[in-house]
Amino acid sequence: MTASVFFQRYAFALLVIAIVVVAGLVNRFAPTRKPRVRRTVVLLGLFVMTWSIAKTAAFLGFGWSKYVSSGADLLASYTVISLVGITIFDLILPAVRIRLVSITSDLLLAVGYVVATAGMIPGGGLNSILATSAVVSAVLAISLQATLGNLFGGIALRLDGSVEVGDWIQLENGRQGKVREVRWRHTVLETRDWTTIVVPNSLLLQNSIIVLGRRDGHPRQWRIPIQFAVDHRYSPETVIHAVDEALNAAPIERVALTPAPHTVCLDLMRDGRESYATYAVRYWLTDLSSDESTNSHVRTRIYAALRRAGIPLARPTQTLFLTPNDEEAEKKRTERHHNRRYDAVRSVELFAKFTEEELQALAERVRYAPFTKGETVTRQGAVAHWLYILTKGSVKVRMRTDDGKSKSVATLHAPNFFGEMGLMTGEPRSADVVALTNVDCYRLDKEGFQKFIAERPEIANDVSETLTKRKIEYISAREGLNEEGRRSREITERERTLTKIRDFFGLVR
Ligand code: CMP
Repeated sequence: MTASVFFQRYAFALLVIAIVVVAGLVNRFAPTRKPRVRRTVVLLGLFVMTWSIAKTAAFLGFGWSKYVSSGADLLASYTVISLVGITIFDLILPAVRIRLVSITSDLLLAVGYVVATAGMIPGGGLNSILATSAVVSAVLAISLQATLGNLFGGIALRLDGSVEVGDWIQLENGRQGKVREVRWRHTVLETRDWTTIVVPNSLLLQNSIIVLGRRDGHPRQWRIPIQFAVDHRYSPETVIHAVDEALNAAPIERVALTPAPHTVCLDLMRDGRESYATYAVRYWLTDLSSDESTNSHVRTRIYAALRRAGIPLARPTQTLFLTPNDEEAEKKRTERHHNRRYDAVRSVELFAKFTEEELQALAERVRYAPFTKGETVTRQGAVAHWLYILTKGSVKVRMRTDDGKSKSVATLHAPNFFGEMGLMTGEPRSADVVALTNVDCYRLDKEGFQKFIAERPEIANDVSETLTKRKIEYISAREGLNEEGRRSREITERERTLTKIRDFFGLVR
């Protein structure tokens, strides 16, 4: 007995054994696929039934028995295709970690069924299938418009990859869910509250949906804003610094390290009514299913950071600031501000030779002027109006050369001063001075400064020293002087500067 005869004779037994084996494997490794095995068993049952009818009809001599026999053959091949489909798509591919979406495996199986059917139809079966398919498709297209829309929607979604299994999407109605499966007619979403949303595929294609936290070349993470409010007694800089430091001091579970969480000031006066500023911490959530618990961790950390810094959260009601108007309180306030200005002017070397009285007078004249990181404090070429006393932070002195390039001249750290060149010589600002950090400055106006120089002309000498030193550095940076060039330049420049200052202030020589 040849192998082919053996297989023909025992085909049915082999098929039954194969179904039993596959059913056992599915039960063990892919229990969710049991309905497919059931379908195969039904097909086998139908085959047995049709085959029995064909045999009986043939025995009784009916001519139509051969058609029934062909039908039985067709059912047998469907059974085999179904079984092969389960073996490949539900057992072998998952075992080697290849996961096809159900639509793809279904499509491949459908092709298998069509080819088997075409092969069964005698006399150019494929041609007759093609001939009738036009009519059949027209009828189907009309009657199954919505179904076909969903079907092609599903295929399109798979092909262009706009929505992948595992993506988190937001529908037009605002609901969010994780794509569990893209099926023939619909897509299944699982929400955070353990509900399942079934969305017709055509709807997904027609409406604009938002795929949350997906950006090419980056891990899946979604930016979340968490708002809080702090009243105006605390500067945005203080609040942002306190919260940022705490957020980045140690990682928080499910919060991405890059981009790092950070705080922004959203509004100084929301709706124009409230007396507090609104802030938002922005962080990137790495597990989109745990938004609320992660938000809660981040809020807890914000709260602790603010408590440590002694910054209370603004109350939801409007805050009423009462400023006591009595003379005593007013005097105290003025004194406090004056002392701050006094400390500022005293910290600067430029005024080291000032008497106590002069320092007090100077403190009366200066004004507080903070700048934020990146701001330009003085601009090269501008008319000079102020002398700047730097009490907190650092600034960079940068000059722009004739060919439009920017060259760094010096970095000044508090306590220091700048802007004296323009103010003392009447020349335009020699350089840009840019805040490297958030800085605190006090500035002295030109008239105030002139008054002090007129009263104490010897100050001009002291200032001209610093000014000459800086000027030489400035010229060196501009012209690339060597040590010797610097020295010879220093002598002429000192004299020139002093003359210029005296001329400018109308001082006697
Ligand atoms: P002014 O020219 O008024 O404006 C730009 C300021 O940059 C200038 O005054 C100085 O105060 C400062 N500046 C210029 N060159 C230097 C330097 N070499 N070192 C420190 N500060 C400088």
